[in-house]
Amino acid sequence: MEWRQTCMLFLIFLFQVLVNEVRSQGGNTVFDIRQFGATGDGQSDSSKALEDAFSNACNVVGGRNQILVPEGTFMVTSAVFDGPCKGLIEFRVDGVIKASAGIIDDDKWVAFRYIDGLVITGEGTFDGFGESAWNLNDCKMNSQCKHLPTSIRLDFVKNSVVSGIHSLNSKFFHMKIYKCNNINVDGVHIIAPEDSPNTDGIHIGDSANINILNSVIATGDDCISMGPGNKNILIQNITCGPGHGISIGSLGKYNNEADISGITVQHCTLSQTMYGLRIKTWASDIQLTAYNITYDDVVMDNANHPILIDQEYCPSMGCDESKPSSVQIKDVWYKNIRGSSKSQSAVNLKCSSKYPCDNINFFNIDLLYQNSDNSVNANCKNVRGSASGIEKPPSCL
Ligand SMILES: *[C@@H]1O[C@H](CO)[C@@H](O)[C@H](O)[C@H]1NC(C)=O
Ligand SMILES: *[C@@H]1O[C@H](CO)[C@@H](O)[C@H](O)[C@H]1NC(C)=O
Repeated sequence: MEWRQTCMLFLIFLFQVLVNEVRSQGGNTVFDIRQFGATGDGQSDSSKALEDAFSNACNVVGGRNQILVPEGTFMVTSAVFDGPCKGLIEFRVDGVIKASAGIIDDDKWVAFRYIDGLVITGEGTFDGFGESAWNLNDCKMNSQCKHLPTSIRLDFVKNSVVSGIHSLNSKFFHMKIYKCNNINVDGVHIIAPEDSPNTDGIHIGDSANINILNSVIATGDDCISMGPGNKNILIQNITCGPGHGISIGSLGKYNNEADISGITVQHCTLSQTMYGLRIKTWASDIQLTAYNITYDDVVMDNANHPILIDQEYCPSMGCDESKPSSVQIKDVWYKNIRGSSKSQSAVNLKCSSKYPCDNINFFNIDLLYQNSDNSVNANCKNVRGSASGIEKPPSCL
């Protein structure tokens, strides 16, 4: 071969190597779970196929690499996706991921952990098949009860988005966000029956910079609950109900709970919920502070107990009721809260005698008893604060 020709071939070879390199580096590769043996027949266990698709996607350097759950019903006993990954990850659900019946010996069903730059998207459904397990939940009677699996867990995840997906009939919580930073949950749909036990919609713990936006939550327990250690949480444009409302707490149950602060709940509707805007703390010696909390523009549609601070929280017995709570609640604003209360007790602030609530502010509270003209009442215990604007019920501050 002439040297020119050799040189040319070498250049072509070099070019191909480069193209391949760019592909695997910048690649937005799709990993369809069917390529890894998943079958959308609703019966074969696709757990391993999902985990294999994930580990392949996770190993691609750069780009946004997609794990695709196509249409069909894919039975999954349990799937854990552990990062860190070499590129960004998109987990796209078009079909249904369905849990197996009964309980598994685990507190999680589908878990995403240690991932930076995750997008969970699609119009598909995580079906927890809770109706096959709810009767095995004895948490109401037993404070040491074993927790059933949470449907979708995000643990140690950063800079990520969850959008569009549906969560149906979780066995326990629908979603739990734990030790995460900078997460947007937008436009999700969460559904379980009103009487399903502990099916909290979204629980957030020990996390910072979390937005929960534009979502519809109808479930058997809190629509959204925020535990200790959270900072800078925005809850906006949420429709909740049925359910137990939007809660901070419970706080003060376990040792080493960190403060919770910077909570904003805005433009929300609570429809036929058991509670509305609730802060609950256990009567215990565990000391922490909940502060800088704003509720603004919240509509109550026959919510039972629309505004509640309960520092004597003790749902499953087993507390020393003589002990006041050691959780300090302060700097709370309730602004423009309106609509109807199912009970006459529309505002009830039961604060701790040891750490009275401080700087609790009401502005434009406009609540009626059911949809009649009857008035509702407000009760205060151990609270300091102020009220202005509309005062229905008449303020107890
Ligand atoms: C509020 O959320 C609903 C339901 O998710 C959505 O249809 C609507 O567009 C949202 N509104 C705004 C102002 O984002
Ligand atoms: C209160 O919380 C808001 C929202 O997270 C935050 O922007 C603000 O800086 C906080 N204020 C104080 C005094 O911490």
